Amino acid sequence: MVYRKLGRTGYSVSDIGYGAWGIGGKQWLGGEDTESLRALHRAIELGLNFIDTALAYGDGHSERLVGQVVRQTGHKIYVATKVPPKNRLWPARVGVGIEEVFPFHYIVECAEQSLRNLGTETIDLLQLHVWNPEWIHRDEWRRAFRDLKRAGKVRAVGVSINDHDPDSALELVRSGLIDTVQVIYNIFDQTPETNLFPLCHRENVGVLARVPLDEGSLTGHIQPDTTFPAGDFREWYFRGDRKNQVAERVAALLRDLGEGVSLPETALRFCISNSAVSSVIPGMRGVRHVESNLALSDQGPLPAEVLAVLKRHAWNRNFYS
Ligand SMILES: NC(=O)c1ccc[n+]([C@@H]2O[C@H](COP(=O)([O-])OP(=O)(O)OC[C@H]3O[C@@H](n4cnc5c(N)ncnc54)[C@H](OP(=O)(O)O)[C@@H]3O)[C@@H](O)[C@H]2O)c1
Repeated sequence: MVYRKLGRTGYSVSDIGYGAWGIGGKQWLGGEDTESLRALHRAIELGLNFIDTALAYGDGHSERLVGQVVRQTGHKIYVATKVPPKNRLWPARVGVGIEEVFPFHYIVECAEQSLRNLGTETIDLLQLHVWNPEWIHRDEWRRAFRDLKRAGKVRAVGVSINDHDPDSALELVRSGLIDTVQVIYNIFDQTPETNLFPLCHRENVGVLARVPLDEGSLTGHIQPDTTFPAGDFREWYFRGDRKNQVAERVAALLRDLGEGVSLPETALRFCISNSAVSSVIPGMRGVRHVESNLALSDQGPLPAEVLAVLKRHAWNRNFYS
């Protein structure tokens, strides 16, 4: 397992981390807690030491599972969690004030609830679950982060950037007030490479690459006839003719990559090929995916000629809207 610096936090994190949205259960259906716990334990056994969860993932269920595992293991595991928007609107909306989304007391109360769910004394990384650049000069988030750090409840702070909008956090990164950003980065959305990554590099801000498999399309398993359990988030994400679009894009990508290439492997190695990325955080509810994904860390970055092929497959669209 390869470890990288998480920006200025001083944490040394596995370049493949664990995305714990799916194990929350409410938005991703069909999982089992027993298998999620096995997957988390196996990941730690294989050297993974970074987990990304959120208070909103199954209303604390993901945090409780993660907390159970990190308290049981003898290893130091860095846990990142997130404060959900008070108005429950993802992503942050232009023109909606911070008083509706992240009032000071609300941020503090959410952090305290996360601590109770995790069963730990401190949160290694607390992130705002959405970000609106209009809030940059507001006091609420700055004061809440500062006070939580001073009280020893939070060690580092960051923001999860709105979907497909990496540049909305540039001013925030320049402010010097956050330690990390979490951003969509995958073969289809390569836009963070243009401005965000070079800036994070210069400012020593850690980068968490989220949704590396585009919620499943970059596994190659989404076909026009794929179905999801009723009420599953992916039923909505891949609605309308999107499964057809995905299948066409993926077929073109595989044709270009040539024979014998594993798409999930290529998609994850794409993320760790960029040195600005501290950790890529795939969702992996089962042991099987944990084992195949973590084995990729030692394989390291993709060769330049493969990256050149992948560059041509960037796809500018927003399935979250
Ligand atoms: N706004 C935000 O802050 C935000 C939004 C979205 C996500 N996130 C974070 O980013 C993490 C990752 O995103 P995500 O979980 O939504 O999606 P993702 O990582 O792009 O894709 C997860 C899907 O890929 C499957 N998978 C994983 N490894 C595989 C492999 N080797 N072969 C085939 N399939 C494989 C998983 O299956 P199984 O689960 O069945 O193993 C799951 O269905 C989240 O868990 C969360 O921590 C943050």
